[in-house]
Amino acid sequence: MKPLLDITADRFRVSRAAYTDPAIYAAEQAAIFSRCWLFVGHESELAQPDAFATRRVGGRPILFLRDSQGAFRCFLNVCPHRGAQITRERSGKSRSFTCFYHGWTFDNAGTLRGMHEPHTYPEGFCQAGLHDLVPVPRFESYRGFHFLNFDPGAMSLRDYLGGACAYIDTIVDQAEGGMRVIGEAQEYSARANWKLLAENSVDIPHVTALHPTYLQLVATNSQGRMKRGEMPGYSLDLGHGHTVVERIATYGRPIAQWIESWGEEARVEIEAIYLRLVDKYGKERADRMAHCARNLLIFPNLVINDIMSVTIRSFQPVGPDGMEISAWALAPAEELGTPALGRRLTNFLEFLGPGGFATPDDVEALESCQRAARVAREAPWNDLSKGLSPGGDDQRGDTMSELPQRAFWRGWQAWLNQPGRAGDAG
Ligand code: FES
Ligand SMILES: [Fe+2]
Repeated sequence: MKPLLDITADRFRVSRAAYTDPAIYAAEQAAIFSRCWLFVGHESELAQPDAFATRRVGGRPILFLRDSQGAFRCFLNVCPHRGAQITRERSGKSRSFTCFYHGWTFDNAGTLRGMHEPHTYPEGFCQAGLHDLVPVPRFESYRGFHFLNFDPGAMSLRDYLGGACAYIDTIVDQAEGGMRVIGEAQEYSARANWKLLAENSVDIPHVTALHPTYLQLVATNSQGRMKRGEMPGYSLDLGHGHTVVERIATYGRPIAQWIESWGEEARVEIEAIYLRLVDKYGKERADRMAHCARNLLIFPNLVINDIMSVTIRSFQPVGPDGMEISAWALAPAEELGTPALGRRLTNFLEFLGPGGFATPDDVEALESCQRAARVAREAPWNDLSKGLSPGGDDQRGDTMSELPQRAFWRGWQAWLNQPGRAGDAG
């Protein structure tokens, strides 16, 4: 296999085959999506015992639930009998699940409780424990974010997240009563390789070129706060393929940066939130929470964007050329029923919703890149050298650097090249 990364002191290039080759896709499924911690859902999606949600994670059908005792559990949504889906509902509340094919019934702790015509099965069939729902090999959570891992020998979630934990803390600690997902996921798809969205989600340099209409709106709403091209801050390689970009927000933030267009009433509310943060965390941390925005990529396919509002985004590859994307709005529980939530959700929809100012632009750009990668073999390289400084360690850069993309690819290569893992990333 030809090398896929071309890295020298002053050059960082990625072969476009890495976005299209079915052999690379298969290697990623084995070495990344079967070995890394993958986001399943947020605890607030299952607010009560007996709540459940189904989704696809790492290519597998997954049943994410709280049992009747309130414990979070995660099973393959696959019947132990002959493999039909245990439940075909997207979400709901249930103490038990009955497979639609032959009627095996399981409680929400995963134990087989009965079946049609039980007398036709050997005695003690249910009690044998061999026919219960199959839990995912590893299931752990951090600050309300639940992850699974298909590798029983994987490092702990806490070790995997490493330096990303501090950024999750900075987001979750903004809330007094915990963070809550608001409403259902927004779902859309793109005919592009999943790695293009990983790159895009921490790509600050594209914003002014690709989203000028939105920036004009922000500049108008923010009464001159937005100064084009000025985004002081930094980008960081957090290891394992995780990366973050943090910078001064030049727009309104529900926590806690007021802009004139939100009106006087909002100013009083937002000042009170800011003072609470200062009181609890000190001025320096409160200022970061209130006045800085951050895009956090948790390898391989989770993004937490804390910008005008907070968004969780995960994307599931469905082949080299396609992905399905889910996005959830996250808000402090104490905002429910307040005008602050309205401001937050307006921000979420305006920019990041599937019909917002950003998402359709981004999808078009990613699909354009994918089309070229598929056919234009005479132009085989993507270039990610922006901000590379020869002799530098490339662990920390400015916000206009392509350091986050390089951090992602270094992590990608390391996962693919792990001993005993499928694939050779070259
Ligand atoms: S496949 Fe589920 S009961 Fe037969
Ligand atoms: Fe964008």
